[in-house]
Amino acid sequence: MSIELTVVVPTYNERANVGPLVGLLDSALDGIAWEVLFVDDDSPDGTADAVRALSREDGRVRCLQRIGRRGLSSACIEGIMASSAPYVAVMDADLQHDETLLPGMLEQLRADAADVVVGSRYMGGGSTGDLASGRVWISRIASALGQLVLKARVSDPMSGFFMLQRGYFERVARDLSGKGFKILLDLLASGRREVRVAELPYRMRARQHGDSKLDTMVVWEYLVLIADKLFGRYVPVRFVLFVGVGMTGVVLHLLVLGLLHQLLDVGFLVAQASATLLAMTSNYFLNNVFTYHDQRLHGLALWRGLLTFYLACSIGAVINVEFADFLFRQAFPWFVAGFLGAVAGAVWNYAVTATFTWRTASSKRTEQE
Ligand code: GDD
Ligand code: MN
Repeated sequence: MSIELTVVVPTYNERANVGPLVGLLDSALDGIAWEVLFVDDDSPDGTADAVRALSREDGRVRCLQRIGRRGLSSACIEGIMASSAPYVAVMDADLQHDETLLPGMLEQLRADAADVVVGSRYMGGGSTGDLASGRVWISRIASALGQLVLKARVSDPMSGFFMLQRGYFERVARDLSGKGFKILLDLLASGRREVRVAELPYRMRARQHGDSKLDTMVVWEYLVLIADKLFGRYVPVRFVLFVGVGMTGVVLHLLVLGLLHQLLDVGFLVAQASATLLAMTSNYFLNNVFTYHDQRLHGLALWRGLLTFYLACSIGAVINVEFADFLFRQAFPWFVAGFLGAVAGAVWNYAVTATFTWRTASSKRTEQE
């Protein structure tokens, strides 16, 4: 008998939840040929082992373990791709999503009434349960923003609970950005044509075990995703972010240079060199948090990254200081000399660090690219 529905469940440290979820699916999906595929990113709590133990008892339970990778969206995408079923659902492992909605979703897809059926917290009959009010607020604003790029009206484009036709997924698979948390928005914004969306309300439950993996940077990832969908086809968002960070570096640079050289009477060469070092350090950390958020360096790697960044940029710094000093001696005003020196250095830095500092890191701990 072939499988009609695959439930893809991304997991990270959900050991205590997988067993109960399989039990709930078993009763909710009675009479349906289903399987559940847990996509685990090598959780330190041993979630993958727990799934495989279940799998030995019940062939409908499968485990896809990814090593050296993180990312909710990419986990969902790879889970969907590992399924051959005509219908695929995605839901959290933490029992927050109401599994009794699944048969109703399936019915809509079987009737071909929609490409995607979304479990919504923001329509009549739905609710966010006891989600912190701050989260609800952010979620509502983000939903409104999401309408900018969506090709359909959806009350809850941030939902992590939905079911889709495999045919629709195959049509958009190559256009997905695959970054961050917002897999549904990605799926709905990527099609070239209108997508037929149906929504069913559900009441979100509270998490029983473990913690949410959403941090405040999720909002940032979300904005980057929207920017990517809006103009990513023309200019890579990463490049725009790098230039933005570079601008803050230039402002910081000029402030420090002005402070040291004009106010404190420090010699121009020393002032320009100090401003360069400070701007370089600030650029590194800002780029690590914003531009390379998806492959951010942590702990020891963060400091190693800083060293390689300095190293890679040291030539840029020499170019910067030498060039600015040259212009200054040519009687250019201090701010013009300082500015042009910084620009020359920044162009160099971009090219070198993009291929060096974060690229080496990406081979080990990236989620995409
Ligand atoms: N494989 C993998 N890799 N799974 C992950 C990762 C990851 O890097 N990060 C989180 N997960 C899993 C979690 O284990 C959980 O099963 C599911 O993805 C959702 O993560 P939660 O940490 O439970 O997120 P949440 O409940 O705070 O957020 C939910 O609501 C949001 C809307 O407010 C999710 O459903 C989001 O997708 C949704 O946008
Ligand atoms: Mn959750």
